[in-house]
Amino acid sequence: MLEIKDLHVNYGAVHALNGVSMTVKDGEIVSLIGANGAGKTTTLRTITGLEKAAGGSITFDGHDLRKTEPSKIITLKLAHVPEGRHIFPQMTVEENLEMGAFTDPTDMAKTMADVYERFPRLKERKRQLAGTLSGGEQQMLAVGRALMGRPKMILMDEPSMGLSPLLVKEIFAIIREVNKQGITILLVEQNAKMALAISDRAYVLETGTITIEGDAKELLNDARVKKAYLGQ
Ligand SMILES: Nc1ncnc2c1ncn2[C@@H]1O[C@H](COP(=O)(O)OP(=O)(O)OP(=O)(O)O)[C@@H](O)[C@H]1O
Ligand SMILES: [Mg+2]
Repeated sequence: MLEIKDLHVNYGAVHALNGVSMTVKDGEIVSLIGANGAGKTTTLRTITGLEKAAGGSITFDGHDLRKTEPSKIITLKLAHVPEGRHIFPQMTVEENLEMGAFTDPTDMAKTMADVYERFPRLKERKRQLAGTLSGGEQQMLAVGRALMGRPKMILMDEPSMGLSPLLVKEIFAIIREVNKQGITILLVEQNAKMALAISDRAYVLETGTITIEGDAKELLNDARVKKAYLGQ
């Protein structure tokens, strides 16, 4: 579904990505783990066209994303839940969800009913301004908004960041359920243990280069991964 080959991204003199290659197959959850500054966010932002690649290729569902305008990319059913959520704080929960459907407003009422069923907490708060939601609720809203576009694939950038252990569990359970409904997921996480536990496969990114890749359950037992990312 998503294939990245030899991707290079620079910020001026900073080489953020040095030849990243990875694939995500239809129906998978794939994790991208790595330390601060490794290039995880850059990878997601380059996929959705928010950063420009200096070299390499990105193919999603048969489309060459490097040749596709960012405004067109979101219409390809590829959703991005960015780092730090980026909900619209001055709009209500419901208005935020409506924004998520702008690329495909057909059946919006039904999609919204599905999202409310998945996130009863958002339903209870649908008239509340999004900026007044708790951190965990804002994260749920960000995921709910992505679902409103009825994506084939969602790119998620650190959905567990800043959440209490209980909410971390909840958000990972939600990611798993969303995937079971048939949505492919590329998950960027610093919480490597939880991410690997729900993933099919994973890649480890170190200063712009993929150093380890494989079956997620195997990586949970990989000595290098344990030492560097699982604190074991
Ligand atoms: N707009 C920018 N201008 C210059 N350098 C940048 C920019 N954005 C990112 N970088 C640099 O690129 C590298 C990769 O950053 P990126 O945000 O992709 O890392 P990350 O793996 O997402 O880290 P974190 O876990 O802290 O979110 C870092 O060294 C960062 O300082
Ligand atoms: Mg990041």
